[in-house]
Amino acid sequence: MSDLSVNFAGRMRQLRPSTIREILKVTAQPDIISFAGGLPAPELFPVEAVRAAAESVLVTTGPQALQYGPSEGYMPLREWISAEAGRRGVSAAPTDVLITSGSQQVLDLAAKLFLNPGDVVLTENPTYLAAIQAFQAFEARFVPVPTDDNGLIPDALPELIRRHRPKFLYTIPNFQNPTGITLPAERRAGLARIVAAHGLPVVEDDPYGKLRYRGTDVPPVKHWDEAGCVLYASTFSKTVAPGLRLGWVAAPAEVFSQMLILKQASDLHTSSLDQRVAYTYLIQNDQSAHIERIRSAYGARFAVMDAALQNEMPPGFSWTKPEGGMFLWVTGPAGLDGMALLRKAIEHKVAFVPGRDFFPADGGDNFLRLNFSNSAPDRIREGVRRLAALCREQM
Ligand SMILES: Cc1ncc(COP(=O)(O)O)c(C=O)c1O
Repeated sequence: MSDLSVNFAGRMRQLRPSTIREILKVTAQPDIISFAGGLPAPELFPVEAVRAAAESVLVTTGPQALQYGPSEGYMPLREWISAEAGRRGVSAAPTDVLITSGSQQVLDLAAKLFLNPGDVVLTENPTYLAAIQAFQAFEARFVPVPTDDNGLIPDALPELIRRHRPKFLYTIPNFQNPTGITLPAERRAGLARIVAAHGLPVVEDDPYGKLRYRGTDVPPVKHWDEAGCVLYASTFSKTVAPGLRLGWVAAPAEVFSQMLILKQASDLHTSSLDQRVAYTYLIQNDQSAHIERIRSAYGARFAVMDAALQNEMPPGFSWTKPEGGMFLWVTGPAGLDGMALLRKAIEHKVAFVPGRDFFPADGGDNFLRLNFSNSAPDRIREGVRRLAALCREQM
C-alpha cells in the first residue's frame, strides 16, 4: 500500500484526534447513559412542524429550493435573523448577515481569514474543543486569557495584546462550552472597549444564548461594539435542530466580503432547501413558545443533575451552576485522571468528556464536562450515581 500521508500538508501535524468523536461512537449504543456529546434533547425537535414546512416549500417553490442559491444566504432568512438579532441587542442589517453551514463554519472561515501559521488566538481556557480544532487546522498558537468564576478578565487583555500580537480573540460569553459560565454585562462592555482601542477582532460565539433558564439575559459583546470589531456568530442548532446545519454570522463589512469569498471557495452556499425550510418553519410557528419548552426542560434537567451530584459526589469535587445552556463543569481533586475515569465509566455504561480536550495547551486532567440536555431525569440520576461511585473508587 502507498503511504499517502507523506503528501499531507504540514498543518496536519498539529491536528489531534478528538476524544469526544471517539467517545460518541460508543455512546451511540442505547444502553449507555451519555453525558458526553453536546446533543440537544431529540424529543424536543419540532419534527412535525419541520415536516409541514418542508412540504410547503417543496409544493410552492420546489425548483428554487432545489437550485443553487446565493453564497450570502436566502434573503428572507437573513431578514428574519436581522430582526431576531435586534431583539438580542445586536444591530445587524440583513446584508450584514452571512448564512453558514452551522456556526462551526464561522470558526473555520474566521481561522482561514485571519491566521497565518504560528499566529496567536486568544481564548478562554478551557474552550470549545471544535474551535481548538478549527484554529489548529490553520496552525494557530493559543494564548489563554486569564479567567475567574465569571469568565475572562478583560483587564488582562492589553498586556496580552502587546506581548503576543494576537490575530483575534475567540469567546463564548453565554453558558460557555465547556464550563457553563456567563460573562457579566460590565465585562462585556469592558471587553468591547478594550478591543476597540487595540483594533482586535473578536469572534463572539453564541449558540446557547437563547437557552437561559434562570436569571436575566445579558446583551452580547456585539451590543457594545461601536468600533466594528466583533463578528457575532449564532446558530439554529440548539433552538431548532442541529441536523439542519444552519448558522450565521453578523460581521463588519470588510470581514463580511472576505468571508463571503472564502465561503464560496468552501461550499458555494448553505443548502437552499434547508434555508427555505427553516425560514418557513420560523414564520409558521411560535418560536418563543418552542424555545420556552426547551428552556424549561433543560432547567429541570440541570436541577436534577445538580441535586444528584450534591447527593452522590465524594468530598473534593465541585461543579459550576450554569444559568442556561447544556453543560456543567466538574472540578475534581488534583491527581484525578479524567481519561482513566472515562475508560472505567464506559465499562459501567456511563460517559462524559474528560476536561483535557478543552485545554489548547496542557492540563485539564482533573475536570469533567457533563451534558444534561440529552438525558431524561431518571437516566441523569442513575448516570450520576454510577459516575460518583467511580470517582469515590478512584480517589
Ligand atoms: C461553543 C460552540 N460553538 C459552535 C458550535 C457548533 O454548532 P453548529 O455548527 O451546530 O452551529 C457548538 C456546538 O456544540 C458549540 O458548542
